[in-house]
Amino acid sequence: MIVIPVALQDTPYEVLIGPAVRHELANVIADRVPDAAQAAVVTQRAIADIDWFGELLPVLPSRVHLIGDGEAAKSMGTVESLCREFVASGLARTDVVIAVGGGLVTDVAGFAAAIHHRGTQYVNVATTLLGQVDAAVGGKTGVNLPEGKNLAGAFWQPAAVLCDTATLGTLSAREWACGRGEMAKYAFLGSAPDASILDLPIEDQVARCVAMKADLVAADEREDGRRVLLNYGHTLAHALEAQGFDGVADLRHGEAVAISLVFAARLARRLGRIDDERVALHRRVVAGFDLTADLPAGADPARLVAAMARDKKARHDLTFVLDGPAGVEVVRGIDAADVLATLAEMGAGE
Ligand SMILES: NC(=O)c1ccc[n+]([C@@H]2O[C@H](COP(=O)([O-])OP(=O)(O)OC[C@H]3O[C@@H](n4cnc5c(N)ncnc54)[C@H](O)[C@@H]3O)[C@@H](O)[C@H]2O)c1
Repeated sequence: MIVIPVALQDTPYEVLIGPAVRHELANVIADRVPDAAQAAVVTQRAIADIDWFGELLPVLPSRVHLIGDGEAAKSMGTVESLCREFVASGLARTDVVIAVGGGLVTDVAGFAAAIHHRGTQYVNVATTLLGQVDAAVGGKTGVNLPEGKNLAGAFWQPAAVLCDTATLGTLSAREWACGRGEMAKYAFLGSAPDASILDLPIEDQVARCVAMKADLVAADEREDGRRVLLNYGHTLAHALEAQGFDGVADLRHGEAVAISLVFAARLARRLGRIDDERVALHRRVVAGFDLTADLPAGADPARLVAAMARDKKARHDLTFVLDGPAGVEVVRGIDAADVLATLAEMGAGE
């Protein structure tokens, strides 16, 4: 088992990584939420049907709450239903919410935990690669609004995160690819970006990404500074996913991040921040993670720009995290014409 501390001053916790760490759930709850007498387990139907799921339940008297699949289920409506179910089942503030699933489940269950009785502890059992390398760690919880991705939420740190790599055995090829999308992002936050992390055993792949995220989160819990770098390749990604709500594109988060990383490199090149070779490196690294950087057919440039202007990083402007001479950093006040030209270069609107 690999243990990575998230060294926050007020709410430090650990991320446990390994092929059987789900069996640590009882110990973790006894240690971190000792007053819990009852658990609300939030998951999805498909996960509840997997054989190991039943092993999690004897931890405490538990009630299982199923939420829907897909980004449309990441909504205020789902959170309201969960909170009402928590109240109906008598979940006290001293009890515990256990989120079992990918980033969608941990984001939604974490947000419901953040507001149930104004803050109830929760533990994430991350069961997708994307959840393990990124979403389950760092305390960003929330939901989508019809206006865009992740626009409502709260910072609410989990009491612990379990990344049981054995649970990844049932993931589809597409979900593995989504996880590699976030791993490609981490490649650009270190020195000498490449895809060699894929040569490591899966536990070490997850641990290396979690360690990078834990460092950024511990240094900047509320994203007032360096944590924003974790948004590299996310501004266009969120806009593409938002278009997906209308059925224009059926893109998953990690797939959208892969496209958005190459878009960010092209935009940085247009702004004179990096050269052609660095753009080519982005393309090579994304391809090395076996991901495509092609914009989906039908991507509407004007709507993408409008969605990017609503991004959380923006301050009434277009703001991106971009590569440059000093590495990846936040760049504000970008001209919409440059964004549109970069999208056109990638074939948008054709
Ligand atoms: N909070 C954060 O810091 C953060 C970071 C990155 C992404 N996210 C969010 O994470 C979400 C994407 O997460 P995701 O990619 O994990 O998708 P997801 O949670 O939608 O899961 C993808 C699919 O895999 C299924 N699944 C989960 N575990 C499984 C398993 N072990 N075996 C078989 N199937 C399994 C789910 O039921 C679902 O159908 C997005 O909403 C994104 O915004 C949050």
